[in-house]
Amino acid sequence: MILGCISENADFEKRVMLNPEGVKKIKSLGIDVMIPKNYGNSSDYADDEYVKSGATISDNNSLCEKSDIILKISQRNLSEFKFKQGANLIIGFFNQADNDATNLVKQNKQQIFALNLLPRITRAQAMDVLSSQANLAGYKAVIDTAYEFQKALPMMMTAAGTVTPAKYFILGAGVAGLQAIATAKRLGAVVSATDVRLASKEQVESLGAKFVFVEDAEDMETSGGYAKEASDDFKKKQEILIKDTVKSQDIIICTALIPGKKAPRIITEEMVLSMRPGSVICDLAAAQGGNCAFSEPDKIIEKNGVKIMGESNILNKLPISASNLYAKNVFNFVDNLFDKENKKININLEDEIIQKTLMR
Ligand code: NAI
Repeated sequence: MILGCISENADFEKRVMLNPEGVKKIKSLGIDVMIPKNYGNSSDYADDEYVKSGATISDNNSLCEKSDIILKISQRNLSEFKFKQGANLIIGFFNQADNDATNLVKQNKQQIFALNLLPRITRAQAMDVLSSQANLAGYKAVIDTAYEFQKALPMMMTAAGTVTPAKYFILGAGVAGLQAIATAKRLGAVVSATDVRLASKEQVESLGAKFVFVEDAEDMETSGGYAKEASDDFKKKQEILIKDTVKSQDIIICTALIPGKKAPRIITEEMVLSMRPGSVICDLAAAQGGNCAFSEPDKIIEKNGVKIMGESNILNKLPISASNLYAKNVFNFVDNLFDKENKKININLEDEIIQKTLMR
């Protein structure tokens, strides 16, 4: 059995799905690994390191022909590759069915596993790329906003006087949001956060941040642990609360998301204009429409002295850490899919992980 990694397009994806350590682990299952030349360049992994770990260097075309399992993070240039009719099983990060590239590939009867569809159950945690990547995204959003902000973050009492701490406000206290809170706290900022799920109150407070919540509102958490869409009444109350909170903040990190939906628009134009010049907003939901009115993917927009950073793939700025975690997640996923006794892939649809990630 062969597992092949095809090239990512470095213009929009600097991470790789398998690092040299990941190659060793896949080989330990009895699966051979093929990579194209320069596969890990954007993540600083040289071909030599992959070869030392047991990978064979090839090119994308022969890889696609020979491999039983193909790894590729992004579907954006998936249709550039020639897949053999019915031959491969592809594992990656795929949006739902209406995507052109995915459809094209599916016409050739490849089976596609979308890691972004993993259920958030305990057994799947070690494979959960959404969490491993969002955690890094929350961290990096704080680091990048700290860099753009023209003042120091922590309180400093000096002989020349006191420097007041910066105020961070985090929208959405899921994986990215909680890591953003923890990172901003470590840097000495004063942090508050909001979410529509009441369960997040305890988590936010345990990290030492203030929880900002619409009083007497219903809990918006679904049985799966995600948020559901807020009612119009809730949205009105939330707008008043956020409007009031935002005025006094220096930095906002936007991470609010409802799976499969456009990002909720929470920070209005009026709210941005009410902030002090020099304030910074980082919108991690920019690619899904943005939590902030002015966000544009991969641009820094300036409005009234407030910088709004729209990030569509902030992980490209941390490709080594992101790839290392990705590779661990991918190994665990393949390990679960592989029948070690019979040395073959076992697509057992009674396994919730397999059933939920297989795109049909
Ligand atoms: P998550 O599902 O763990 O957290 C999202 C949180 O938003 C949940 O706690 C949810 O309850 C909350 N939420 C939903 N609607 C809300 C509302 N109206 N007001 C306040 N909170 C609300 O998601 P995760 O994994 O933390 O990802 C967060 C966002 O970051 C997503 O948009 C994701 O796509 C994005 N992301 C972006 C990256 C980038 O490079 N730009 C990288 C990784 C993640």
